[in-house]
Amino acid sequence: DISAGGRTPLLIDTDPGVDDALALLMAFDAPQYDVVALTIAAGNVGLLHTVANALKLCEVAGMDIPVHAGCDAPLLHPAPDASYVHGRDGFGDIGYPPASRQAEAEHAALAIIRLSHVHAGRLAVCMLGPLTNLAVALKLDHTLPQRIGRMVVMGGAVTGQGNTTPTAEFNIGFDPEAAHLVFEAFAAADRLVEVADWEAVIRHGMLHADVERWLQAEHPRARFYDAISRKTREWSAGLRGDRWHAADALAMALVVAPQHARRLERRPLRVELTGTETRGMTVVDWGRRSGRPDHAELLMDYDQAAFEGLIRRALRVE
Ligand code: BDR
Ligand code: CA
Repeated sequence: DISAGGRTPLLIDTDPGVDDALALLMAFDAPQYDVVALTIAAGNVGLLHTVANALKLCEVAGMDIPVHAGCDAPLLHPAPDASYVHGRDGFGDIGYPPASRQAEAEHAALAIIRLSHVHAGRLAVCMLGPLTNLAVALKLDHTLPQRIGRMVVMGGAVTGQGNTTPTAEFNIGFDPEAAHLVFEAFAAADRLVEVADWEAVIRHGMLHADVERWLQAEHPRARFYDAISRKTREWSAGLRGDRWHAADALAMALVVAPQHARRLERRPLRVELTGTETRGMTVVDWGRRSGRPDHAELLMDYDQAAFEGLIRRALRVE
């Protein structure tokens, strides 16, 4: 489905975040998509930083996309951020000069609802952070899922191998109540949620040596990305070895180039809220024992060469 100029409108909810930044650069490039707004969550770091980072990235990329600040905390329970991964400011603490543009006055949740009307039935939504803003939007308007053309979420760990607690992945574990509301609302509306989970991310790592070579490119995008990602790449190399993992970039690859997905599985998925060890876990009903509908489409395998090609293009390598 297409919008003005033959492109599909795309709204990205994000908490930049080093891997969010790479995903955003990929989205800005996608010829078949028109990024109509960035709605900003708290998550990797606090909202003031994630908003500032989104505005800065737009400036670096020369993109004049409206940026809407959203909720500054999870719905119910406070949660630790991921500044140990992304830097205290979420962009590697390089001390960049702030962007000259400001965020819009309209709240992220209201922007999601408004744009779902403007582009009813066509709007693609990609969630790269905790699901707080979308959960609030769904509480304000339960008819929202019907107007969304495609919903893609980076989050969860589909066999329970998390990255924050043993079982929870960061985006879901940061605000499990929000994630629960989102998955239940889409299931109730009989709408599919596409999921790129942390375990898929682990299967699609890039060699640090390759990434370092790409990041020598001259283009301002590569220079900026090299700087903001340096600390987290060093941290990751010490922890996970040869390969670097850009979670949100994999979700965005699924959005902009779904033809390179090699295996997808549909299953029921629910979010655990009360477990003593498992709060924030995405419980996938692999054996279909619950009788619930298969409302989550899980990315299992994506063409690695195609994924890396999208990343190189986003960084203007060559
Ligand atoms: C997710 O958590 C965040 O730290 C990343 O930006 C990504 O969205 C990966 O678990
Ligand atoms: Ca993110």
